[in-house]
Amino acid sequence: MRVEVHPAEHWADVVAAELAATLGRPGGARVCLATGSTPAPVYRRVPAALAALGLDAGASIVVLLDEYVGLPPDDPARCDAQLRSQLIERLHPPPAFVPIPVDDLPPAAAAAALDRVAAAGLDLAIVGLGLNGHVGMNEPGSAPSAPTRVVEIAPITSRVAVERYGATAAPTAGVTLGIDRLLGAAELWLVVSGAAKADMLRAVLEQPPDSARPASFLRRHPRLRVIADEPAARLLADRSPTRA
Ligand code: GLP
Repeated sequence: MRVEVHPAEHWADVVAAELAATLGRPGGARVCLATGSTPAPVYRRVPAALAALGLDAGASIVVLLDEYVGLPPDDPARCDAQLRSQLIERLHPPPAFVPIPVDDLPPAAAAAALDRVAAAGLDLAIVGLGLNGHVGMNEPGSAPSAPTRVVEIAPITSRVAVERYGATAAPTAGVTLGIDRLLGAAELWLVVSGAAKADMLRAVLEQPPDSARPASFLRRHPRLRVIADEPAARLLADRSPTRA
């Protein structure tokens, strides 16, 4: 595991530049992306970062990490809507986008479709950290072998969907990529920003891995990169700018 800490004012630029380099790779990359407030400022910076590198994302494939079940297609909290407006629609040419087909298929079949896409291989997965230690919608109680599946959403996650992302109804279920597939991605980045995540980030990185904090299982990935801003990293034992 490598922990990288950046000043809050540069954090999103650093992550955007690295994501742009991956999306612009010759031949493209297969990238699984989270939504939510953490990566939103990163995604907004990717078009400029691609332009600065003289690259485009047209050959890449972006796979959605998770999706609510039961929210209408035009709900502002929908993960596919967030990723389209924050990233996909800002890229010219756009990457191929693979949402989770929760409107067209029963939830279990939508999960199976997502799993097939991930099983074909992911060059990179970027995930955020839930306030309760979840990753994707792998809520507390998830095992390290948790597969891609239909899940019940924890009450705090449901509240966040309404209060922070503007969901028109409180979601109670979702479809998420499993921890097993995240651990199988060639590269895995856990991106964390803001002081509100500091306690959980410390627990995830410094306490023994535990299903009470599913993100702690990401430490099993051979090349996990934790990319945090200084407010999120402020409680870590070693806060030097970059440490392996
Ligand atoms: C949400 C999403 C995750 C996201 C996490 C953190 O519920 N299901 O994909 O990474 O919680 O969200 P935020 O970055 O808004 O704190």
